[in-house]
Amino acid sequence: MDKIRIRGGVRLKGEIPISGAKNAALPLMAACLLTDAPLTLTNVPKLADVAFMADLLRLFGAGVEWTPESSPGAGGRYRLCAANLVGTTADYDIVRKMRASFVVLGPLLARAGQAKVSLPGGCAIGARPVNLHLMALEALGAAVELSDGYVIASAPGGLKGARIEFPTVSVGATENALMAATLAEGHSVIANAAREPEIGDLGDCLMAMGARISGLGTSTIVVDGVAALHAAEHAVLPDRIETGTYAMAAAIAGGEIELTGTRADLIGSLITVLEMAGAQVSQTNRGLAVARNGVRPTSVSATTAPFPGFPTDLQAQFMALMATAEGTSHIRETIFENRFMHVPELLRMSADITIEGDTAIVRGVPRLAGAPVMATDLRASSSLVLAGLGAEGETIVNRVYHLDRGFERLEEKLSRVGADIERLPA
Ligand code: UD1
Repeated sequence: MDKIRIRGGVRLKGEIPISGAKNAALPLMAACLLTDAPLTLTNVPKLADVAFMADLLRLFGAGVEWTPESSPGAGGRYRLCAANLVGTTADYDIVRKMRASFVVLGPLLARAGQAKVSLPGGCAIGARPVNLHLMALEALGAAVELSDGYVIASAPGGLKGARIEFPTVSVGATENALMAATLAEGHSVIANAAREPEIGDLGDCLMAMGARISGLGTSTIVVDGVAALHAAEHAVLPDRIETGTYAMAAAIAGGEIELTGTRADLIGSLITVLEMAGAQVSQTNRGLAVARNGVRPTSVSATTAPFPGFPTDLQAQFMALMATAEGTSHIRETIFENRFMHVPELLRMSADITIEGDTAIVRGVPRLAGAPVMATDLRASSSLVLAGLGAEGETIVNRVYHLDRGFERLEEKLSRVGADIERLPA
């Protein structure tokens, strides 16, 4: 398995193009199942998870054509066309490899009146149940049965518009509910909906396909069902997690970088804490500029929360930054119960971190020390790369396949701004 070697201590300078968002692209791709007409998506990141979703769509009979953009690293365009569905079952072997494949449930059910999708099971960052997805589809009139590890949902007479009131915010359940409601008969209200920008992006695409939706970006989304959706083209929004990760790379390594093709409003909560920590962040014509010159970062505390709060997907990377800050930071994780797996690895790099319940207490040290470390999940992997950028000496990050699931050409993007980083093939 490939490894990544980083020699720390080099300041960063230059620009990094930000790719389309993985977490937007996956549900957007699933939206092609809602119609027999083609859906064209541009600015799609070239990632293992995205290719995996394309394979899944092919199993349902969708035609999938990928055209890479001419400039390297700019992702590509998918033309997806599910003219005839040949299947409505997503096997365990598929869903266990990528939990986000569960988002095909709503569109399949809405279009075909039935779907059978494996329960995703637990994953490294916690139990991650799907009760909210099922609750939403039941509210829309589906009969849902659990059998042999599968969710079997049916609505032979079609889904019916309804009020769905989520007890807690879920990104994936909101996406399934939103897609299903577009073809349900009548009026649906999704209350306590997730407000993540990826939901707004999905809603915009669905509206381009003819869906009638209002309230995107708020916690109450209203959908008036239509009989059918039509062809559309949509550009995937910039990846806010990639944006935030590279912003923190500059804050850890020092220097000045411009992140092009992205927007400040996608990472407002991170910008606030980065500025408190002593970094300078400004909007430019082409994206965002992030700089840290001279002084050591100052410790700042943060608590993860649904958007617009501090994203759980940036928590591990932020901890790498705080590990070298002046002072003590409390980082509280409220979304996932087991999302501190990067801590033992950061300790191997001489960080001083203790965990008390859902809070990591991070006492900054002047400099981390390079070490061999193991990537345990996607975001943890990127935090170890960031830690390596700020560490003294050499860091080897093992098991980097997680990174390839969510970051397009990470080592190339960082080396083009001067980082001493390379991939060591297995
Ligand atoms: C999405 C993101 C993931 C991010 C997460 C939170 C994608 C592909 N993934 O994951 O990167 O970390 O949002 O921002 O977009 N929950 C339930 N029952 C459910 C569903 C969720 O209890 O039916 C709980 C989860 O266990 C978790 C919380 O709700 O504690 C939030 O999870 P959710 O927003 O659903 O995350 P995902 O959509 O899986």
